[in-house]
Amino acid sequence: MKVLLLGSGGRESALGSALSASESVDELFAAPGNPGLAQIAEPLELDAEDPDAVVNLAGKIDADLVVIGPEAPLVAGVGDALRGAGRRVFGPSKAAARIEGSKAHAKRLMEEAGIHTAAARTFDAVEPATAYMDELGPPYVIKADGLAAGKGVVVTEDRDRAIRALKESLVEGRFGQAGSRVLVEEFLDGPELSLIAFTDGVTVVPCEPAQDYKRAYDGEAGPNTGGMGSYSPVPACSEDLAHEISHRVIEPMVKHTAARGEPFVGAIYAGLALTSKGPKVIEFNARFGDPETQALIPRLESDLAEVCFACATGELSGTRLSWSDEVCVSVVLASGGYPGHYRTGLPIEGLERAAKHPGVDVFHAGTEVQNGVTVTAGGRVLAVSALGRTFKDARARAYAAAGDIHFDGKHIRSDIALRAERAEETKEEA
Ligand code: AMP
Ligand code: GLY
Repeated sequence: MKVLLLGSGGRESALGSALSASESVDELFAAPGNPGLAQIAEPLELDAEDPDAVVNLAGKIDADLVVIGPEAPLVAGVGDALRGAGRRVFGPSKAAARIEGSKAHAKRLMEEAGIHTAAARTFDAVEPATAYMDELGPPYVIKADGLAAGKGVVVTEDRDRAIRALKESLVEGRFGQAGSRVLVEEFLDGPELSLIAFTDGVTVVPCEPAQDYKRAYDGEAGPNTGGMGSYSPVPACSEDLAHEISHRVIEPMVKHTAARGEPFVGAIYAGLALTSKGPKVIEFNARFGDPETQALIPRLESDLAEVCFACATGELSGTRLSWSDEVCVSVVLASGGYPGHYRTGLPIEGLERAAKHPGVDVFHAGTEVQNGVTVTAGGRVLAVSALGRTFKDARARAYAAAGDIHFDGKHIRSDIALRAERAEETKEEA
């Protein structure tokens, strides 16, 4: 089949690697893609958030399947436009994607479906929001309602900082329309976990769990980012617990959205905190996680294109996923200053050498080619993923390969999957 993959980030690079390896894929197109994807797929220029433009392009190449990577096209209704034009699509409708597009909406759905999540209320004015914040007490959690590229959430002990976040969003319009409403939320304590599942709107087939590192610096310091690294599987999440989360969180949500007449087709993502009172949802997303996907795809032995096609055609029932016994660690190479201001256009060296390490994939995220030279073009520049028999092996490989890549200001966290490595050591000793 001919597959069109929409997006240009690290997640899409990982998805593209699996789609291009599929025996059922004859041709793979990436729009707009990136220099890494251009090595395995035909790159096509496209504004992926313009439904008409996407429909035209899918028609021109007569795509048998369109896989939508990022949230923005989903929220813009690209999935609906493609389905309206008779295309098979992996990715939810605009209505179903509101689970990510509006945090207030997601809260409502979780309440209706009886899914455990942090207590929260929605506000459009600073004063009542502050009163509720004080009622909950510190640490304070303030979230812009709409899409804010992973930057709309502030978690802080500092009351003044929390009030400033409310004002920035509600009064100063820092996130535009996306921040015209905010959620003030109960703080959830405990390790975080991402569980992503394939669904055709009825059947749910979960991936193995993954863990993401949201903060910019080692030891969970610094501001929230889009994600600085990930690993899979997660020693803190047993098979039973993953099963329970799928059963109590993802399945009820898929059922509930279908009952509302807004069936969810694609990848549904639950971000959870494993609290002392059990798993509670932090957020739902309407797509694969970035950078969780970069740690999941290298372990996926099933044919990704076949699974996405089964979702798109309502034939997921009976599908089982097969995963490598090896673990995977993915380290993000970011631009100095990210998630704040950073420079771009800086030459990147060592990409080929890094990719030669055994079990290593170098996934492009924010890169472009200028005059034949690959340069930085975004906050998260690359993700280096490594498989290994143990977390110790996988971490050693990932960091060795990441160390071979150079650009001015390169920033990586040095503690990705360290927790998992320690858990492994403790288990060996026991
Ligand atoms: P979100 O965009 O909702 O995933 O939030 C980004 C990050 O902020 C999460 O991954 C958590 O690390 C943190 N966070 C969000 N909501 C909460 C909460 N209620 N309690 C604790 N941490 C939170
Ligand atoms: N890694 C978090 C996300 O994809 O939203």
